[in-house]
Amino acid sequence: MTAATARAYPNIALVKYWGKQDAALNLPATGSLSLTLDVFPTTTTVELVDGPEDAFSLNGAVATGTPAARVFAFLDLVRERAGSTARARVESVNAGPTGAGLASSASGFAALAAAASAAYGLPLDTASLSRLARRGSGSAARSILPGVSVWHAGDDASSYAEPVEAPELAMVVATVDGGPKAVSSREAMNRTAATSPYYDGWVTSTRETLDEMLAAARRGDYTRMGELTELSALRMHASIQACDPPVRYLVPASVALFDRVAALRAEGVEAYATADAGPNVVALCRPADREAVAAALRDSGLAGEVTVAGSGPGVEVSQAEPAGA
Ligand code: DP6
Repeated sequence: MTAATARAYPNIALVKYWGKQDAALNLPATGSLSLTLDVFPTTTTVELVDGPEDAFSLNGAVATGTPAARVFAFLDLVRERAGSTARARVESVNAGPTGAGLASSASGFAALAAAASAAYGLPLDTASLSRLARRGSGSAARSILPGVSVWHAGDDASSYAEPVEAPELAMVVATVDGGPKAVSSREAMNRTAATSPYYDGWVTSTRETLDEMLAAARRGDYTRMGELTELSALRMHASIQACDPPVRYLVPASVALFDRVAALRAEGVEAYATADAGPNVVALCRPADREAVAAALRDSGLAGEVTVAGSGPGVEVSQAEPAGA
């Protein structure tokens, strides 16, 4: 039997992906840019089996419902490309505390894309893996790459992530207990595109934000990168909040953390805040400032867990047996 194991890390976007131009192919409305982190990887093993069904376990427990359905649909895509009918057993483990607030679908589908590609004999080059991971979850396209990467909008062939030259960055993740997510990011993304009057403005302005972010990264302009990071997050949340019916992911503690990060800047520590589709806040900072930022966010009493992260590696296939072995 053929088996392969891969490990991938979560990423946090500085220029957010929020909206699709093609839901079936998971093509984004705009490009986006992120930092792959060095904490909380997902390790996934895909083993081809003789049985009639796929199986998926997450952190040692059998997974069912939507998470399992998404994994099995992804395996169907892999089989179609590989010309295989073999079923698979998928075992996935997320490191670190559950609910740490780091995008597990990004690390999850990046690790699955690499492990499944190795097990079924599909190409393992970065562009192919990024394109494939995109089909599982858009943000997973970026977790194939190390450090800072840009995921291009485009067609099925050209929409993948590539590395970007950038200054060294760090992030401090502050979790905020907002209770269970009322609306999934996928549903909120579709609702924003369908009903938010600000969606068109979001798409148009994000193209400009990304161009500006790439230029700032190229010239090593950390300050402008930070300013654009906060701008992109707040514009995304503004467009989400204008949905019908509205969706609001930021809770009072999230907003207070944005204020705390702004106060840190006034005190001379140059940090900038961002937040994904949930209440947790992530502070972008220079590596030298990460412990000071973490201490300030802990002392604020606004956050539960506070985790310091640096620039992480791209996906790695750690164990693979050649087909037929
Ligand atoms: C707010 O990648 O989870 O984290 O493609 O529908 O699976 P799907 O969406 P997903 O959305 C991530 C949205 C975000 C911003 C970002 O990571 O760029």
